[in-house]
Amino acid sequence: MSQPEIVNPVSVDDADPWVRTFMTTMLGDPHQDEFPKRLDRWVRSWDPDRTWGVRDRGRWVGTLATEERTLTVPGTGTTTNDIPADAVTAVTVAATHRRRGLLTRMLSDSLQAAKDRGDAVSVLLAAEWPIYGRYGYAPATITANYRYHLRRPGAKIAPGDPSRVRQAEPDELGEIAPAVFDAARRLRAGQVDRRSPWWDRRLALDGYEMVSDARLNWFVHDGPDGADGLLSWKVSRDFELNGLLGAVEVSDLIAANDEAYQDFWAYLGGIDVIDEIELHDRPVDEPIRWLLGDGRALQQTEAVDFLWVRLLDVPAALSARGYAIEGRVVLDVVDLDTGSYGAGRVALTAGAHGTKCEPTDEPADLQISQRALASIYLGGHRLRQRDIMRDVTELTPGARDRVDVMFATSLAPWTQTGF
Ligand SMILES: CC(C)(COP(=O)(O)OP(=O)(O)OC[C@H]1O[C@@H](n2cnc3c(N)ncnc32)[C@H](O)[C@@H]1OP(=O)(O)O)[C@@H](O)C(=O)NCCC(=O)NCCS
Repeated sequence: MSQPEIVNPVSVDDADPWVRTFMTTMLGDPHQDEFPKRLDRWVRSWDPDRTWGVRDRGRWVGTLATEERTLTVPGTGTTTNDIPADAVTAVTVAATHRRRGLLTRMLSDSLQAAKDRGDAVSVLLAAEWPIYGRYGYAPATITANYRYHLRRPGAKIAPGDPSRVRQAEPDELGEIAPAVFDAARRLRAGQVDRRSPWWDRRLALDGYEMVSDARLNWFVHDGPDGADGLLSWKVSRDFELNGLLGAVEVSDLIAANDEAYQDFWAYLGGIDVIDEIELHDRPVDEPIRWLLGDGRALQQTEAVDFLWVRLLDVPAALSARGYAIEGRVVLDVVDLDTGSYGAGRVALTAGAHGTKCEPTDEPADLQISQRALASIYLGGHRLRQRDIMRDVTELTPGARDRVDVMFATSLAPWTQTGF
């Protein structure tokens, strides 16, 4: 059997074959006419030190890259805090080389690099559920798809002024979109940033070329202090003269406040010649339901796990977030996964003047697996669920429910941006 080598760093000179390998394994099409445009996006942001690969007999057979992203975690009240996160992406091992431990070798290396850098958490999006648990990742946010049946009786949205919504072109959007998104993402835990050149790529600015799935109609919401919302959609079904109505698909609905959110929905509900709007990658608790005369006019068609979190430094990660109520709890964190980075006993104190989480020798109130802690970290799940899995052992009566209340958030965490 051949002896594949793990390569890191990977030079930008290898970007072309490395990206082709990645696209082939992820069921993309490296032969499409758009490949040079997609390759250009990789090349311009290439970070050799944060790129891994597996090479065998001169051919790339494995890929993995990480990026620094900012993650919102729960703050005090309804606010959020920003923390840097290690974001793992482009994970593939070719089917010719699968199940020989190559992902394990690349990801073990990249997790250690993140730990050495001082990142408190690592995040990723899992193509399949069974892949990443062994490395310590746990699902922490849920993403939902919806179909809004806007002709249904009771589908009309009560408040909202669509006249504050106007169509806009890429040049203007490039100026305003980063700040609008940055304000909007802070409204929920679980959001990752869209740092430069995210918007340039999306809008085909600064020399980036438009790729087909990014051709969208864009709209801006003007609030009293300027732009505070962005919306994009494309047609998914044309209308017919025989009476069949069309459909549109919303790609981005970004609102920095409730008014922008309501006005966008009022605008969407008023689009003529369509009877359906598809919305993808939305929060699981989409609030607009409560403004509809018939909440079922907004049909949730899918809800799946989205952002997976691995805690690399439990005291730093728990100190960085706020808690719903004041309290103190000693957690004995068990981490049997790659690197055991989360293992140890910590005392978490959420007080009126902030949060503290430090290593301790005190007796524990709760024994908890790192994966269970990672799954509740952003407020999206409850320990009671993990109890069923024996991932949690209550050592002080009431400790589990107290932790659940402390970690809860008023809105479900949501990750709007893939990576
Ligand atoms: C998922 C993928 C990267 C795994 O790579 P790999 O090199 O085969 O993984 P490893 O050999 O290191 O596997 C380690 C362990 O995880 C298990 N595992 C890996 N992928 C798995 C999967 N999809 N489902 C179930 N178990 C999986 C292996 O069986 C192995 O278990 P073992 O140690 O008990 O034998 C590879 O199969 C792949 O590229 N798949 C298609 C693209 C994809 O899904 N990428 C992930 C994008 S998020």
